Amino acid sequence: MDQITTIPELRVRLRSAGRIAFVPTMGNLHDGHIALVKMARERAECVVVSIFVNPLQFGPNEDLANYPRTLQADLQRLQEARADVVFTPTDSDLYPTPQVVHVEPSAIANTLCGAHRPGHFRGVCTVVAKLFNLVQPDIAIFGCKDYQQLFILREMVRDLSFPIEILAGSTVRETDGLAMSSRNGYLKPSQRLEAPRLYRALQQVVQTVQQGRRDFAEIESQTVQYLTQLGWIVDYIAIRSADTLLPPRPEEASLVVLGAARLGSTRLIDNIEFCAAPAQAL
Ligand code: PAJ
Repeated sequence: MDQITTIPELRVRLRSAGRIAFVPTMGNLHDGHIALVKMARERAECVVVSIFVNPLQFGPNEDLANYPRTLQADLQRLQEARADVVFTPTDSDLYPTPQVVHVEPSAIANTLCGAHRPGHFRGVCTVVAKLFNLVQPDIAIFGCKDYQQLFILREMVRDLSFPIEILAGSTVRETDGLAMSSRNGYLKPSQRLEAPRLYRALQQVVQTVQQGRRDFAEIESQTVQYLTQLGWIVDYIAIRSADTLLPPRPEEASLVVLGAARLGSTRLIDNIEFCAAPAQAL
């Protein structure tokens, strides 16, 4: 496995690499990231993983400075997962001059997480577009855990004609249901015990809809209320069309419930894709 920091070295290394599968990350790798690397391993000759904590996607009051950086442990895990190339650029490798051209995502980027993190998805799209141009992969793999991100990046690839196939990996969870996340490490022990409740609340929403309720706004606000009473600071709980991320039309069956909420200063997100009709009725 080669660790590469500079763009010229990356170009030389990838020149005759064959079919490339790419997994972009911000490091502090956990089993969720590794599952994506394993998907990549099965699909290409050359597996490239990037580790870059992208300043463009962090707001002024977010955790850029404190974001966990664990490069040695990450390299160890990537070696075990049989990655071929780990690209670890510095800020000045990727942004040698201040970024003046950005990739502006669609209006969906201003909803859900984007409503609470202005500019976040613009920063994500811009860095992923740069990484795509540098790595020039045949396929790129993202996690369903960041459902809105995956949706927006699929739109970007389609609209900007990137010749790249996007694949999605299922959300990997702890045994108690908490979605794995680099930010889980910020949780205090009592918060860690409470954290799986976000997923359970989303499971409850799925069940409620599958039992036939269609008053989505009411279900959302009841869930917000429930979590708030238990000490969560809820950004949103939202039932959306899985195909458009817009509020679903009444007859729409392919849905997703998404949630973002904070325990103290730690912001957690999760989602479940589901079918509005109960499985046995299909
Ligand atoms: P990061 O949060 O490090 O996540 C890297 C990839 O791992 C993303 O595609 C994310 O959806 C996926 N992932 C995270 N937790 C997961 C889990 N529990 N199960 C499955 N996949 C999971 O997302 C980013 O970095 C950045 O925004 C990035 C795309 C790298 C651009 O900077």
